[in-house]
Amino acid sequence: MTIRTYIPRRGRVSKRQATAIAEADGLLLPAGDELLDLGKIFAGLSVVLEIGFGTGSATVAMAANDLELGILAVDVHTPGLGDLLYRARESHLTNIRAIAGDGLVVAEQMLPELALAGIRTFFPDPWPKARHHKRRLVTPLNAALLASRTKAGGFWHLATDWQPYAAQMQEVFASSTQWLGGVIPRPQDRPVTRYEATAIHERRDITDLWYLRN
Ligand SMILES: C[S@@+](CC[C@H](N)C(=O)[O-])C[C@H]1O[C@@H](n2cnc3c(N)ncnc32)[C@H](O)[C@@H]1O
Repeated sequence: MTIRTYIPRRGRVSKRQATAIAEADGLLLPAGDELLDLGKIFAGLSVVLEIGFGTGSATVAMAANDLELGILAVDVHTPGLGDLLYRARESHLTNIRAIAGDGLVVAEQMLPELALAGIRTFFPDPWPKARHHKRRLVTPLNAALLASRTKAGGFWHLATDWQPYAAQMQEVFASSTQWLGGVIPRPQDRPVTRYEATAIHERRDITDLWYLRN
């Protein structure tokens, strides 16, 4: 996997974020190439993979709302990792684990086949320029990779504020025999994410999409 779906950003890490990372204990799993024992890590809970949690505010709110679901949250951005870990610790959550890395690489190298109950991808980088479309996270190849890691009946919940990307997502899923679904009304229980708040402020329409693994 050579194409990056994200922009490598340094970003200043605050003291609070650095402390949260340093004191993460078992909440932060090392990225690597060995398969994770999700049953052991999440004590038998069903597991949802979130790719690109940003600052993790929505991630933590959703984890707190459903303690019966384990959340494996993956992002490449270090300050956001610190925010997520700080919030998870503050909320005393035990059903959340984070990995600093590329969610697609994690899926490919660290997740067993048919391991996931679901996937969340909220506001993946839109890559609006045509020459960058190949960097988008939702592609036929990535949809097939993530399908292979998801149980039959598992879900993939996506949201975007970029309508051409919403259309591309629908095309990708329509061409897949592994995912079935489409656009849904915004679920009431999906918290507004940090990125989404800006999109709403700038009056962009939000599209939620929900697909089930065949
Ligand atoms: C536009 S931001 C949205 C963040 C958050 N979901 C929100 O709505 O506020 C996209 C995020 O996805 C992350 N990202 C992009 N590609 C990724 C990948 N392959 N693996 C993990 N994180 C990724 C970026 O680092 C960034 O934090």
